[in-house]
Amino acid sequence: PPVRVLVFGAALRAESTNARLAALTAGLVVEAGGVVDLAQMHDFDMPLYDGDIEAAQGVPPGALTLRGRIERCDAFVISSPEYNASVPGVLKNAIDWVSRVQPQPFKTKHALLVSASPSMVGGNRGLWALRVPLEHLGTRVYPDMFSLPRAHEGFTDDGRLAHSGAQERLAETVSGFMHLVRADKEYVCLQRRWYEF
Ligand code: FNR
Repeated sequence: PPVRVLVFGAALRAESTNARLAALTAGLVVEAGGVVDLAQMHDFDMPLYDGDIEAAQGVPPGALTLRGRIERCDAFVISSPEYNASVPGVLKNAIDWVSRVQPQPFKTKHALLVSASPSMVGGNRGLWALRVPLEHLGTRVYPDMFSLPRAHEGFTDDGRLAHSGAQERLAETVSGFMHLVRADKEYVCLQRRWYEF
């Protein structure tokens, strides 16, 4: 069975470098044999979390849309900016809203975290911060994370990564991630057949 992967950029601005990195990573997921559902943060508009909104209206449609797309995938990739060495509020807010719906859609899902940033180290610190809520919610975050430094000059006109070795490093990370997700999916299918046998 094909491995289905939701890929989304976690920034709202039109010229987001993380949206570009998400699209580029989605292409590498397809090259690694995956079926991609590519989204952007605008697909999941929702208010800031407020218990009174939840009590009065339930979880907003944008969060339910994101939840459904996570539910339908085997794994997801988030390309997230780093704000003040941590997770952007718009992404943490989306995670918080989605986490209000049981059963927990993040539980057991594999996740690959990538980041683009104009800084010299890329958004790596933000990705370490992003691991904490995701792992708390049961996500299996892939150990390798990919950060693209100097992202404002990080892309070529034909949509590849410009810095030497970066494209190969990202392709290798995606390939390792897809290998793990596929192996896990095949194991679960085998186990299911075994119990049906
Ligand atoms: C930033 N930026 C930033 N970059 C970084 O590498 N480390 C950081 O801690 C921060 N902090 C930060 C805070 C806030 C509030 C903003 C708005 C920005 C810069 C950030 O990486 C840059 O704006 C990226 O371009 C954001 O990603 P997109 O929008 O290009 O996807």
